[in-house]
Amino acid sequence: MKNGDLHTLNQPLTLPCGTVMKNRMVKAAMTEGLAAPDGLPNERHAKLYRTWAEGGCAVLITGNVMIDGSHLERPGNVILDHELDEAERSAFSAWAEAGSAEGCQVWMQLSHPGRQTPKSVNPHPKSASDIKLRLPGGQFARPEPLTTGEIGQLVERFAAAALTAKECGFSGVQIHGAHGYLISQFLSPSCNRREDEWGGSIENRARFLRKIVSAVREKTGRNFAISVKLNSSDFQKGGFGPEDARQVVKWLQEGGVDLIEISGGTYEQPRMLEFEGIEPVQEIKTRASTRAREAFFLAFAAELAAQARAPLMVTGGFRTAAGMAEAIAADGISAIGVGRPMCGDPGCVGRMLKQGADLPRFEKSLGSPRSFLGVNSPIRLIKIVASFSVMAWYYDQIVLLGDGLENDPDTRTFTRFLALQGRESKWMKARRAWLEQQRQVPAD
Ligand SMILES: Cc1cc2nc3c(=O)[nH]c(=O)nc-3n(C[C@H](O)[C@H](O)[C@H](O)COP(=O)(O)O)c2cc1C
Repeated sequence: MKNGDLHTLNQPLTLPCGTVMKNRMVKAAMTEGLAAPDGLPNERHAKLYRTWAEGGCAVLITGNVMIDGSHLERPGNVILDHELDEAERSAFSAWAEAGSAEGCQVWMQLSHPGRQTPKSVNPHPKSASDIKLRLPGGQFARPEPLTTGEIGQLVERFAAAALTAKECGFSGVQIHGAHGYLISQFLSPSCNRREDEWGGSIENRARFLRKIVSAVREKTGRNFAISVKLNSSDFQKGGFGPEDARQVVKWLQEGGVDLIEISGGTYEQPRMLEFEGIEPVQEIKTRASTRAREAFFLAFAAELAAQARAPLMVTGGFRTAAGMAEAIAADGISAIGVGRPMCGDPGCVGRMLKQGADLPRFEKSLGSPRSFLGVNSPIRLIKIVASFSVMAWYYDQIVLLGDGLENDPDTRTFTRFLALQGRESKWMKARRAWLEQQRQVPAD
């Protein structure tokens, strides 16, 4: 670890919109699952984000906030899908304020899950086309294709949510265009089979994302940070690939996006967490010299950065200060996203920025990537349950932070998975009861 590396990571960054990030470190979006059935942020969000803000990052990107309450990604999502009343506004403002401690900024990640949501959460999902997720276990319903009118309404919802986020004190938004959620479904030729202006060529598949970006910019003005999280590839045969990603990055830059976060993968091929998917991975051809490094998507992002005008951020696998500093100094990356280390050790980035300490690798103790019975089991159902079980460990750590408690090192993930299933089905029942109660209250 060289002194120069610490200097590199601590350098401020001015984004095209004029926002200054105090250093190069960003907490990547992680779904919190902490909202009550009303979908509002609460004191647990405030506690969690204050803790993270004190942890040293320049920007905290929130977990995915749903722009349509009828289409949740998971129980406990924050929902922002209507004009807020005063009390609701203060709930969002309190969240933004908590995450803005110590000169930190909070950007709200806005998303719609499309078909990528369990049946138990949404038995009637919508997507670009009626292509079901190819995961065993019957957990996911066949989606219904969105009509042209519905697509237009969703564009407006993204823009309205972004404006509300700005009014409530968030200093930016991130549009979730990655990981197989709705925007990513539109981008992918394997699940977007539309024959109208929203499907077919990459121009058409990217239209939904580009319209959202311009509607958000129009509503929020020039001085508000807009980020997009984009896959470098879906790593699936016939899916959104690196050629598509290069073109979309070009358009996003022309569209005035301030920070493009490069990630990759979907539920079917969860490369963002370095889990194996259900099919052989379609690798991206990249320069061999960078291939062996710790970060999953760096080689591709470095190639993009060579031609890019807007700042790029890369997330996935970064754990060493030297690796991150090199990505910035040698590969032209502007910011580094960190996810899992922040769940079990919220102060780790601050220690790295001061003393050069590397970040914890919780993934090592949660099952080796080569283990036979686990996330890389040859038995598809075991592989999937094991991946969701590992996620349950991270979800639990987020809940503990929200409650102001210490991280729990017990790594028996399967029991956590079962407990999570129980909690989430209880939440869904409470949500249905809440919606029913809302229907009975006459509108003013
Ligand atoms: C518990 C958990 C929740 C996540 N939720 C989201 C999310 O809401 N939105 C998103 O874009 N990525 C989400 N991710 C992916 C992370 O943002 C990040 O891309 C991934 O964890 C890889 O980075 P890491 O190796 O630093 O953890 C989540 C990851 C974890 C572990």
